Amino acid sequence: MCGIVAYTGSREAYPILINGLKRLEYRGYDSAGVALMQNNNISLYKCRGKVADLEAFCEDKNVESHCGIAHTRWATHGEPNDQNAHPHLSIDGKLALIHNGIIENYLSLKKELMNKGYEFLSNTDTEVLVHLVQDIQKTENVDLIEAVQLAMSVVIGTYAVVILSSDHPQQLIVAKKGSPLLIGIGKNEFFIGSDGAPMVEFTNKVVYLEDEEVAVVHPDKKLEITNIKNERKKPFVERLELQLEQIEKGGFEHFMLKEIFEQPKAISDSMRGRINTKKDVVALGGIMEYENKMLKAGRYIIAACGTSWHAGLVGEHLFESLVRVPVEVEYASEFRYRNPIIKEDDVLIVISQSGETADTLAAIELAKSKGATVIGICNVVGSSIARNTHAGSYTHAGPEIGVASTKAFTAQVTVLFLMALSLARKKGEVSLSMYHHYISELEAIPAKIETILAKNDYIKQIAQEFINCQNAIYMGRGVNFPVALEGALKLKEISYIHAEGYPAAEMKHGPIALIDKEMPVVVIATEQETYDKVVSNVQEVKTRSGKIISIVSEGDEIVKSMSDFCIEIPKTDELLSPLVASVPLQLLAYYIAVARGCDVDKPRNLAKSVSVE
Ligand code: F6R
Repeated sequence: MCGIVAYTGSREAYPILINGLKRLEYRGYDSAGVALMQNNNISLYKCRGKVADLEAFCEDKNVESHCGIAHTRWATHGEPNDQNAHPHLSIDGKLALIHNGIIENYLSLKKELMNKGYEFLSNTDTEVLVHLVQDIQKTENVDLIEAVQLAMSVVIGTYAVVILSSDHPQQLIVAKKGSPLLIGIGKNEFFIGSDGAPMVEFTNKVVYLEDEEVAVVHPDKKLEITNIKNERKKPFVERLELQLEQIEKGGFEHFMLKEIFEQPKAISDSMRGRINTKKDVVALGGIMEYENKMLKAGRYIIAACGTSWHAGLVGEHLFESLVRVPVEVEYASEFRYRNPIIKEDDVLIVISQSGETADTLAAIELAKSKGATVIGICNVVGSSIARNTHAGSYTHAGPEIGVASTKAFTAQVTVLFLMALSLARKKGEVSLSMYHHYISELEAIPAKIETILAKNDYIKQIAQEFINCQNAIYMGRGVNFPVALEGALKLKEISYIHAEGYPAAEMKHGPIALIDKEMPVVVIATEQETYDKVVSNVQEVKTRSGKIISIVSEGDEIVKSMSDFCIEIPKTDELLSPLVASVPLQLLAYYIAVARGCDVDKPRNLAKSVSVE
């Protein structure tokens, strides 16, 4: 959601900024802009649309510059148009500012500034910031850095901002609270980004700015960091764990397809180093210190959003079956506002690919304030959720660029499984032989997914049959009910076909009224305890002429004979079946969306990291 790129140094800034914005496109946006320092003046170019539109707009402009800021905006306040696009300028044109996040008290600040004569050209909350900084500079007679510190102290909300000032043509001021921002350090040059993608080929030395910190970035000076109270902070330089090839398509038509195909590796990477060679210990280093608290927990609460919430629902089955401790799964957005009962012996497990989801962050703060232990499962190293939890485990799935989550989901389920299994073994809930069985089954999953990926062309053929459908139903039971929800979410978000997931037995309580010959029904009918019941549910749909697309275990005859299309997948333990069953559903959604001409990597209205409420 919104992307920030900035550069100061001796290179040409514009190509770095544009390329950086393209790398951040996956976050979701609807307009883009750039401000360049040219002969001590700021030139501003911005427009609605894609980064390519901005490039076309700038084609005949002079874009020579060695210092600049650039932004992709995902509209919150004010529609996506040229005026609302960032950067925003101060009245005298001496300051340009880009911002990620939301200024919650922008209306009262705007009113005060308007009373003082400031004119607003946009409907954004961001424009308030640039006028506020300038107003403080004038009224308090302070330098720009102090003005930024003071402005950020009166702001309520979240921000990652970069400011360019024509009074300091090579300098950038950066501030952050609640939205990610990192500074890449080169030789007499600095790169700024919402994540490491814009700078990956230039440097691997980065500083992740902490909340309420303000940095002054100048190519001829050392990085200076203070907080909004003007207390000096020592920059903590870390290694950027990102490779260029991880953020390129590597010959695939879309990132989503590449990421679906990366799942065998992503799952192996999630397991790597966590299962010892004798297969008798699962060790998740990141939670070691809090393992006792997890073992003594009276209840686990899992909070997440979207696909991560679906992983949480799978986690509920895993934890309850293996650890035998009650689990509640919550939408983070609801949990944070409903005054939930949280006890000190509760453990909150939050799951997030991006590690920046605002609602999930709020759930963490709430649980912490009630004394509960908070454990994170995150994909992005150094993300806000990873930093704000007591402990956690990374999924190590590698960067996920396609907006629709695929490999992050299966990696989350893998980590949940490892976590549950390790706790269950320590609690004595799982015998050694079952423990070995689960580990062997888990280790076999990547190869099993390879066999499903090999059916790519067949799934593509099935997809062609459904490109004109208006609705679809997904059914599953037990641990595969969340897979049905996830399959439906994948289809709706990238193909814009309305789809719903149901526990198969719920169909007769209402949704079955929707079934006719136009309705595709995707059913997960793998080998499981409730298989016979699912057979009856499929029969009920069939009787009403619904079109059945089934996901069955290899060798299945019964559901296969009732299906219009059938995808056989390798057998595995029921608890691990979501890892294999979700893959054909991802491919099905992908090929339907591609055939409908949809922009699968950047679906309309969606953002990759939902850093606002
Ligand atoms: C769907 C999808 C979203 C995210 C949700 C939570 O494909 O990607 O539903 O799962 O926005 O995001 P994270 O996991 O980053 O907290």
